[in-house]
Amino acid sequence: MSGEPDRPAWEFHVVLRQATEADQPVIRQLVHQAGINPLGLNWRRFTLAQDECGRIVGCGQLKPHRDGVVELASVAVEESRRGQGIGRRLIEGLIERGPDELWLMCRSSLAPLYQGFGFAQVESPAAMPTYFRRVRGLAGLIHNLARTNEYLSVMRRGSSPGTTTRQDYGATKS
Ligand SMILES: CC(C)(COP(=O)(O)OP(=O)(O)OC[C@H]1O[C@@H](n2cnc3c(N)ncnc32)[C@H](O)[C@@H]1OP(=O)(O)O)[C@@H](O)C(=O)NCCC(=O)NCCS
Repeated sequence: MSGEPDRPAWEFHVVLRQATEADQPVIRQLVHQAGINPLGLNWRRFTLAQDECGRIVGCGQLKPHRDGVVELASVAVEESRRGQGIGRRLIEGLIERGPDELWLMCRSSLAPLYQGFGFAQVESPAAMPTYFRRVRGLAGLIHNLARTNEYLSVMRRGSSPGTTTRQDYGATKS
């Protein structure tokens, strides 16, 4: 497509749109198949990637927590469409829609991808919002037990804690 010559043509066949209630089953399916956190999948918070045939090939959400922190979460792309830039498009779209400050948790091998979008790893548990501190603590336990090379990275992008403007990104339950 003219105007954005650095992007391959097939990327433009995929569009981002807000989810509707009818998309709830496909969101669950994508998240389940991707093997990521299956909890807190309220369709109201989801952005979807839809292909030229109207098929949903990816998803991601902005998940607000009780303390006002917003998490970029549930980014998943259908296996047969991975490596085609759809994940990047979803992340870009979610950042655009979200508040200045966003948090996320990902396995350590994905940290470089998110660093490219301005996220930085937060190492100190004391600097993490409660939810992230708790989940990372649990994941650390599992990591030690499983002795894998991967660990859970907590990352933050944007303004300092406390300066986020609270907006309605959907239901507030963590
Ligand atoms: C992670 C995921 C969303 C990426 O989607 P995608 O459409 O394949 O990503 P893109 O094609 O836009 O690639 C984006 C970048 O991520 C990198 N990447 C993709 N999957 C990766 C993985 N499993 N490990 C490390 N890097 C990965 C790519 O190399 C690419 O980097 P580059 O642009 O410098 O070459 C997809 O692989 C997926 O659904 N995985 C399972 C669910 C998951 O792990 N979600 C992340 C939760 S935090």
